[in-house]
Amino acid sequence: MNKFVRVALVAAAACSVYGQAAPDSLNLMPLPKEVSVGSGSVPITGAFTVSASGPGAQDGRVQRAIPRLVARMVRQTGIPMPKPTPANDTEAVLQIVVAETGHDGPQKLGDNERYSLTVADAHIKLAADTPLGVLRGMETLLQLVRQTPYAPGVTPGFSVPNVVIQDEPRFPWRGLSFDVSRHFMPVETVKRELDGMAAVKLNVLHWHLSDDEGFRVESKKFPKLQELGSDGMFYTQDQIRDVLAYAADRGIRIVPEFDMPGHSSAFLAAYPELGSGPGPFHVVHDHEEEPSLVMDPTKESTYEFLDSFIDEMTSLFPDEYFHVGGDEVSPKKWTGTPHIRAFMEAHKMANTTQLQAYFSKRILDIVTTHGKHMVGWDEILNPDLPKTAVIHSWRGQQSLWSAAKDGYQGILSANYYLDLSYPASFHYSIDPMKAPGTPSGGAVGKGPAPGTPANLTPEQAKLILGGEAAMWEELASVEMIDARLWPRMAAIAERFWSPESTTDVASMYRRMNATSEWLEWLGLNHRSNPELMRQRLAGPYPVAPLDTLASLVEPTKGYSRHAQKYGIFSTLNRLSFAIPSESDTARDFRNAVDEYLADNHKGGERLQMNLAAWGQAAKDVRPMLTNQSVLAENLPVADGVETLCQIGRQALSYMSGGSAPPDWKKNAKAKIEPYVDKRFGDLLIQIAPAIKKLVEAVPGN
Ligand code: ACM
Repeated sequence: MNKFVRVALVAAAACSVYGQAAPDSLNLMPLPKEVSVGSGSVPITGAFTVSASGPGAQDGRVQRAIPRLVARMVRQTGIPMPKPTPANDTEAVLQIVVAETGHDGPQKLGDNERYSLTVADAHIKLAADTPLGVLRGMETLLQLVRQTPYAPGVTPGFSVPNVVIQDEPRFPWRGLSFDVSRHFMPVETVKRELDGMAAVKLNVLHWHLSDDEGFRVESKKFPKLQELGSDGMFYTQDQIRDVLAYAADRGIRIVPEFDMPGHSSAFLAAYPELGSGPGPFHVVHDHEEEPSLVMDPTKESTYEFLDSFIDEMTSLFPDEYFHVGGDEVSPKKWTGTPHIRAFMEAHKMANTTQLQAYFSKRILDIVTTHGKHMVGWDEILNPDLPKTAVIHSWRGQQSLWSAAKDGYQGILSANYYLDLSYPASFHYSIDPMKAPGTPSGGAVGKGPAPGTPANLTPEQAKLILGGEAAMWEELASVEMIDARLWPRMAAIAERFWSPESTTDVASMYRRMNATSEWLEWLGLNHRSNPELMRQRLAGPYPVAPLDTLASLVEPTKGYSRHAQKYGIFSTLNRLSFAIPSESDTARDFRNAVDEYLADNHKGGERLQMNLAAWGQAAKDVRPMLTNQSVLAENLPVADGVETLCQIGRQALSYMSGGSAPPDWKKNAKAKIEPYVDKRFGDLLIQIAPAIKKLVEAVPGN
């Protein structure tokens, strides 16, 4: 008999009966709604068998997901499973029961994703109302597979611990906004990210397919879009259909975005007559270049073109939602043109906000005529906008909430921008229903304190559909895109899926690290590719000291990296591209220093050892930095690490007995100051602030 222990999935998930933090030990991410943990487990062996029954069992998504699940079991365990043959319903190790067939046609917003997973008595039962729920439950099952803990007499191998899980999402719209305009991402990359998204239960790929830097879909009606509006890299319509089918099989909707009337240089390079002035126009290559003009909202021919274009694209993309951008239209792109000023006067438009409102309404009518709901960035919000529009907030929660108060559905991307290299803990702290904080923990401007709940009625709150992580790809290339998305996106996925009370940051990091490893077995290369890139940088030198140096730095945050003037043809191979956005080592060090200072110098020896090893690596890396041209710019980083480690070690030894000489602290502060919160090219030395804390804690002046 199995005894199940109900584990409350609240902030501090520790459970005294099971031991320390039971859900943590299961490494589930996103954390399910309810988990009960039992004793014992079900072994996973080469004789793994699967049955599927119930009205929805023959659904193609379920049927195709079963061999995929088995293939992943094989990869995760190294156990050959030569014949994942269907077994009869009561004998199969994995018994899938699908209660409903699901509706015909493409997946819709709000489709039921609920499932339950019961692991007990040598069987795993995955029950769901719909095929979609089965897909979600399979990911949970795969996360549960682990090497059986050793105990005398235990059969060595892999198993799934006995659990009962009831799960369903908090929000119905959980996405990634994926820019493939600034840097094109080939089909296999998009598919790999779809695999990762499905693994953490995200369900919308918002595909940003056009921008100033490129138009990325074949148009049969307007072929100049891909011919003149791209650098030759775009998806054919057959490739789009292939990706759509791949996503649908994994329970992911694809919402295309064609950004208009701004961010539209690629449209204008192809069809200059759409422009708000005479041009000439070109696709933007330097990301800092201001595009010359935007679309002309005053000409009927603009709407005739867009009607025909939207007709083609809404036929290609089956989703009910269609994103038309609408962000960042600079007023002078319109007011600089006499006939546009005349149009505004004739229509009594006081400003370009009203002109954009006119454009948005015209586009909404077109999108509606083609049977879709229009989604747009929050600039489209205006009093005349029909309530059928969906507001995609990138500028803050306020626009999301005021849209909901006015009766619009909305999704949040503000503060979920993965390209800005903020830590997972920051994105995790952002909740669509609560006031946000800043990356450093303060309130946003004069806004309410972080965490203050949105003041919405239950009906208004329901209009908030969820959110999307966003990845803008000015500074991303195919070889390091995974490392920008993962594993931090898993933390955002948890925010959208798991109960609102799931907020324990330490638990998130523990589970995110485990999830990060798991995702590499799925085929993502967010860990392995940066390693290869560093190997390339190291050339003939042993890479180990570079890896150590790399583990102590992070890319600079926010938009500051754009100051380095990258363009779409820039080489993105510097050290700042060959590291994760967030350093696990620096975070662990920060936490260890805090613990040392708070808890009677606990862990001082370990800190000494770390600093000694890092200081040595900073010395050892020097010949490589001196001789490898791409790395040479990082010599000051090695200087910094060496200095910081030396001062940090002195601080620790003065605190553990010796006393610091009279001027030591003043001199130490002066020595480390050039490295604390200072940028070196694109890099920050992320151990510096904790070293400063150590120095400040040394007794004396
Ligand atoms: C945006 O970041 N301009 C949507």
